[in-house]
Amino acid sequence: MQLVNITEGIYQKKFINVSNKKRNFKWNTKKVKWYLEAEKASNFHKKVIDFLKPHLNNINSAIDIGCGLGGISIGLQRENIKVTALDKSPMIIKTLENRIVNEDNILTIKANYEDIYIKRKYDLTVASFVGGLINNENLKKMLNHTSKYLVLVMPTSNIKNDFQIDRLYNILNMDISKLKQPTYKNIEKTLTDNKINYNTKFFKASFGQPFKNFNESKEFLYDYFKLSKDKDLEISRWLREKLIIKDNKYYLPNNKKSAIIIIKK
Ligand SMILES: C[S@@+](CC[C@H](N)C(=O)[O-])C[C@H]1O[C@@H](n2cnc3c(N)ncnc32)[C@H](O)[C@@H]1O
Repeated sequence: MQLVNITEGIYQKKFINVSNKKRNFKWNTKKVKWYLEAEKASNFHKKVIDFLKPHLNNINSAIDIGCGLGGISIGLQRENIKVTALDKSPMIIKTLENRIVNEDNILTIKANYEDIYIKRKYDLTVASFVGGLINNENLKKMLNHTSKYLVLVMPTSNIKNDFQIDRLYNILNMDISKLKQPTYKNIEKTLTDNKINYNTKFFKASFGQPFKNFNESKEFLYDYFKLSKDKDLEISRWLREKLIIKDNKYYLPNNKKSAIIIIKK
C-alpha cells in the first residue's frame, strides 16, 4: 500500500477505504457556533488540563486525537508542550486554525486517525470524547506511538445524558437505545484483557449551552438530538422547565460527568 507523508512521522494511506461505520455525529456551522459559545462558559477543558498537570513535567510533545475545536490542545500548548491537533473534520480543522493564529506550538492535521500511520513517538497522547474510535486495535496503535502517558477521557454513562436528554426521550416516548454510547468501562475491560495497568479518576464539569433566544434553544435540541418536529409542544414545555437565565442569556445547564483514564508507559 502506498503511503503519503503528511508531516514528520505521520503518513496517510493513499487509497482510503470509505468506512461503512455508522457515524452519529456530524459537525455543521451551527454546531460549531454553539460549541464555541458553550466552551466559553464551561470549565471542562480546564479540568482536564488540571488533572494532567502533575504528569506534565517531562512532557515535550503531545498528540490530541479527535481534537475538536482544540480546548485541550490549546491548554497543553500553554503548558509549553508542542501539540499535534488531529481531527477528521475539515470544518473543525479550519475553525481551529483560525482560532490559533497566535499560538505558536500547535500543528493541525486533518485526517481520520484510522487512516494514518504514526512512525514517531509522542510523550503524551490524549483522546477525549472520541467515542467509538477507542477500540482494541486503536488502543494498541495509540500505545505504540506514546512514550510516557496515554490519556483517555470518556463518558461515565452508557446512555447519553447531556442536558438530561435521556429524560426528554422518555417523555417523548423515543427510543432511548439511540442514545447508547461507549463508556470508560468498555476501555477498562479492553485494558484489563490486555493486562495493561491504568488509573481511572472521575470529575464533573459544567458544559451548558447559552442561547440568544428561546427558538434557538429548540433549534439546538432538534439539531443535536434528532427530535421529531411533531412533538414541539412537549419539547417547548420541557425547555421552559430546564432553561435558566445566565449572563442575560437563556442557558441550558449540563453537568457532565467524565472519567479520565491515565495509562503510564
Ligand atoms: C465530541 S468531539 C471532542 C473534541 C475534543 N476532544 C474535546 O474533548 O473537547 C469529537 C471529535 O472527534 C473527531 N473524530 C471522531 N472520530 C475521529 C477519527 N476517526 N479521526 C479523527 N477525528 C475523529 C470528530 O470530528 C470530533 O471533532
